[in-house]
Amino acid sequence: MKVLVTDPISDAGLDVLRDTDHEVATAYDAAGETLLDAVADANALIVRSGTEVTRDLLEAAPDLVIVGRAGIGVDNIDIDAATDHGVIVANAPEGNVRAAAEHTVAMAFATARSIPQAHTRLKGGEWAKGEFLGTELNGKTLGVVGLGRVGQEVAKKLDSVGMELIAFDPYISEERAEQLGAELADLETTLERADVLTIHTPLTPETANMIGEAELAEMEGGYVVNCARGGIVDEAALAEAVDDGIVAGAALDVFAEEPLPSDSPLLEVEDVVVTPHLGASTEAAQENVAVSTAEQVLAAFEGEP
Ligand code: MLT
Repeated sequence: MKVLVTDPISDAGLDVLRDTDHEVATAYDAAGETLLDAVADANALIVRSGTEVTRDLLEAAPDLVIVGRAGIGVDNIDIDAATDHGVIVANAPEGNVRAAAEHTVAMAFATARSIPQAHTRLKGGEWAKGEFLGTELNGKTLGVVGLGRVGQEVAKKLDSVGMELIAFDPYISEERAEQLGAELADLETTLERADVLTIHTPLTPETANMIGEAELAEMEGGYVVNCARGGIVDEAALAEAVDDGIVAGAALDVFAEEPLPSDSPLLEVEDVVVTPHLGASTEAAQENVAVSTAEQVLAAFEGEP
């Protein structure tokens, strides 16, 4: 069988595949016709978020059995088209949860204490101590939108720094929220009460632009952190809300346009901290998701679940 890998994954995952008799090929920079040619004889395709697995691509790969997503989000994969072609889509939903949660916590502190802004000033030769009066997270309220794996891990970590927890998640039980010490509420109440709002939903038609101008207006000075997916928070509305002081600051790891959201107004706003989709970028997380994805590809080849 031929496994084609079109986004860089950890060697640990590639080694799992190379230790078998299957053929492993990489095509990291392939796009357009080159990508379609590369998948033509593939039996498995492994991607991260860089490859758009479209209906056209699936049609160009008649022998494909499985698309393995070395990570959580499957918004770059046309699931309906995969289903129509009988192709399995398997993600790796656990291996990078801790990494994503740690990055979220780091981003919450980064924006509440203006760490990147202060860093830039000092590297530029300025001792701007008097200009950065931060916000202590202890005693503040964390509003979690989406209490899934990553949302729960973030809630646990920020609970331990003394934050109160409120969450909006129509799919989670009261019991589970209670176990985490979180109060479940509707979105409006979560926004009103949150001093730090953190988003942890997938990007779906239901969540696209879920946090826009009207929602941000409820926040009254809190911080917004989004390490989930671009497109859930309206970037123009958030940039304006931070500019107007309706939102005190924001930290974004994900953007509606990736890579390089060159047109995003958020890049122009001083009180917005940004990173280039680094949530899952730790050695441990990348090894975990790559190995898990490789194992799922091998299982699919064997007809196993
Ligand atoms: C994920 O969905 O697992 C994360 O966004 C990480 C990534 O794809 O880089």
